[in-house]
Amino acid sequence: MDKTLGVLDALENRRSVRGFKPDPIDTATIRAILTIASRSPSFTNTQPWEVAVVTGATRDLLSQKLSELALANTPAQADMPPPTTWPQAAAERSKVHNINRFKHLGIGREDTEKRNQMRMQNYQFYGAPCALFIFMDEGFGPWSTMDVGGFTHSISLAAQAFGLATCMQASLAYYPDTVRQCLAIAPTKKLLVGMSVGLPDWQAPLNAYQSARMTLDEFVQWFD
Ligand SMILES: Cc1cc2nc3c(=O)[nH]c(=O)nc-3n(C[C@H](O)[C@H](O)[C@H](O)COP(=O)(O)O)c2cc1C
Repeated sequence: MDKTLGVLDALENRRSVRGFKPDPIDTATIRAILTIASRSPSFTNTQPWEVAVVTGATRDLLSQKLSELALANTPAQADMPPPTTWPQAAAERSKVHNINRFKHLGIGREDTEKRNQMRMQNYQFYGAPCALFIFMDEGFGPWSTMDVGGFTHSISLAAQAFGLATCMQASLAYYPDTVRQCLAIAPTKKLLVGMSVGLPDWQAPLNAYQSARMTLDEFVQWFD
């Protein structure tokens, strides 16, 4: 572990990686990352997160099952329905993100085949050897999703100290029944999000794109 990687470096350098090397990650490293991430704050220390670590043959099987569903354009049946609309300014940011991502790869707006290929890479975990599926028991309410969000970010930051990278993926939560069935997880455990974890492949074309951010003036008001 690189203990010299400071928190500011980790925050600044974290980015969604969408191309990984196939090298497996050892279990001790995953355990260390999850142990550190579990120091994340939660509402009255309720710690609502539950994690399925998926590697090896199970990873391959799940990738195949999810890919089949996505390829058939099976409508998403996520436990927490994905947003269909955004506030206007956020919709614009989302649009710019999508345009820039594709433009960066030389994929035109009308090139539905290439766009679809890119979408499908979600279900191959962008080549990562490890996928995390993050669940929350149905007894928790909306406040607890904040805790899970912080927890998943902590995973991303901790992974960097081990030279690893991550990508949070809502798309991995679109077919929760298949995930639960494949992993023998109870229906009372709601799937919130998935995450690919692995060694980043900086040569992968998808990793050339870096997302933009609002300026402080766009999201901060000061009161003295
Ligand atoms: C809840 C959530 C869901 C996401 N779902 C996906 C996804 O399904 N596929 C994907 O490639 N990236 C996904 N992302 C990554 C975002 O696109 C990314 O965080 C955003 O564009 C900012 O880029 P950055 O993470 O590189 O800074 C998701 C991120 C979050 C927080």
